Amino acid sequence: MRRGALALVLPLVFALTGCGRLPGARAEATPARPEDVLDFHTLYSTNCQACHGANGHNGPAMELGNPEYQALVDDATLRKWISGGMPGTEMPAFAQSAGGMLTDAQINAIIAGMRKEWGSPSAFAGATPPPYAATQAGDVRRGQQAYQARCASCHQKPSRQQVTSPAYLSLVSDQALRTIIIAGRPDIGQPDWRLTDANGSARPLAAQDVTDIVTYLGSLRNPAAVSAAPIPVPRGGTQ
Ligand code: HEC
Ligand code: HEC
Repeated sequence: MRRGALALVLPLVFALTGCGRLPGARAEATPARPEDVLDFHTLYSTNCQACHGANGHNGPAMELGNPEYQALVDDATLRKWISGGMPGTEMPAFAQSAGGMLTDAQINAIIAGMRKEWGSPSAFAGATPPPYAATQAGDVRRGQQAYQARCASCHQKPSRQQVTSPAYLSLVSDQALRTIIIAGRPDIGQPDWRLTDANGSARPLAAQDVTDIVTYLGSLRNPAAVSAAPIPVPRGGTQ
């Protein structure tokens, strides 16, 4: 339906601009009002790039330019976070209805632009990742065991992001952790859920493992709650 509408609108745009500029090419003229800007690159660089990085990579926040991320998340979820912000993180609300600066049309243009520029139908190369959202309850103890078995070898290094520290966890929501564990962040070296090692062999996390690890990390946001329910030392090699 949106494609049909585009087919109706495009000849009009070409007639008005008096040239055959291809859709997707950058517009040179600056529209009169900020709400009229619908060019993805302009919208992205003005509103998102500072946190999510040039072209969606190497920013302090989530790698939106990771094709695995684009394949994992649906349009409604993107719209929800961009419009309303992501609670528990620094992600601001952009919809005018939520006090932000962007119209619904601009948010739709950003979503469509990300799909076009950064999406790839073969992002998972035939593999099926755990679902974007958790579907079962997680277990703190199992999560700690899985974390020790699958994450700690990399993350206990002092130079690495201390993902178990309450200071780090206070800035990142459970869903953001889940997204990072599943889709990875190739730009900074975080592997995806398959946890492929240097020799190329993978031992993918199951959906329940991901949920348990996020539940365990979430429990560390409030250390008092954790010390009230001591966690046994994990048995090596069972996970
Ligand atoms: C002030 C910094 C900041 C700005 C500006 C910003 N973001 Fe974010 N965004 C974040 C943070 C922080 C997160 C949480 C994930 C993380 O910690 O990496 C996030 C999360 C998201 C998510 C959800 C990721 C998930 O887990 O599914 C989407 C989608 C997103 N941002 C899109 C955008 C878009 C599009 C823009 C521009 C319109 C934008 N963001 C601008 C900081 C920002
Ligand atoms: C092969 C090594 C490796 C493994 C295994 C690994 N990570 Fe990471 N992870 C990294 C690297 C490298 C980074 C980039 C930042 C850094 O250097 O610490 C990172 C970053 C992260 C981040 C921060 C992302 C950000 O946006 O700041 C989180 C959260 C994370 N890892 C969680 C995990 C969890 C949970 C596991 C286990 C499921 C895991 N990692 C397994 C190497 C690894």
